Amino acid sequence: MHVSDDSPVVVGAARGEGALTVSLPNESATATLGRCLAKLLLPGMVVWLDGDLGAGKTSLVRSMLRALGHEGPVKSPTYTLVEVYVVSSIYFYHFDFYRFNQPEEFEDAGLGEYFQKNAICLVEWPAKAAGYVPAPDLELTFHFGSDTESQNNGRLVEIRAGSQEGRACLGELSNRIRRGGS
Ligand SMILES: Nc1ncnc2c1ncn2[C@@H]1O[C@H](COP(=O)(O)OP(=O)(O)OP(=O)(O)O)[C@@H](O)[C@H]1O
Ligand SMILES: [Mg+2]
Repeated sequence: MHVSDDSPVVVGAARGEGALTVSLPNESATATLGRCLAKLLLPGMVVWLDGDLGAGKTSLVRSMLRALGHEGPVKSPTYTLVEVYVVSSIYFYHFDFYRFNQPEEFEDAGLGEYFQKNAICLVEWPAKAAGYVPAPDLELTFHFGSDTESQNNGRLVEIRAGSQEGRACLGELSNRIRRGGS
């Protein structure tokens, strides 16, 4: 099977454990992953997005929302804490807790109310709200690529399922990526 340089590639899978590792050679691969994932998420799901500054968390959210038909901007919620989108009648709440000094700020800001059955919650820097932010159905951890030889500064993302729903999602995501993102 030919896999173009722009495609995400599954480089490791531990299905029994509900985990998948995907190589994202460039931004276009991140966008393809976002497109695949967007169509698999169900209302009520919580997705944690981990990884250092600039690792690709917001980029992934942007490509997910675009894939579902959102045409406006998708800004980083670093200062606003949460950005709200309604796409195809589904509420998407995009959080970024980077600026929290203490996890209690999650409760102080009343953010628990956003985590409802009818909404999909996408959370950057969940560790900053540890103990307060609801557990994830899926957790994506972005790493910077280390292919210095070709100067390819891609990304590697580990995806872990934290629930039965997340596991089902991960299985289908793996299939879609292996099919080239369709
Ligand atoms: N697979 C990829 N390979 C190389 N560059 C990528 C890839 N995916 C995204 N990028 C680039 O990496 C940067 C990621 O920025 P982004 O704001 O998404 O990071 P972030 O993880 O949300 O950071 P922060 O923690 O500051 O919110 C963007 O400039 C984007 O173009
Ligand atoms: Mg971000």
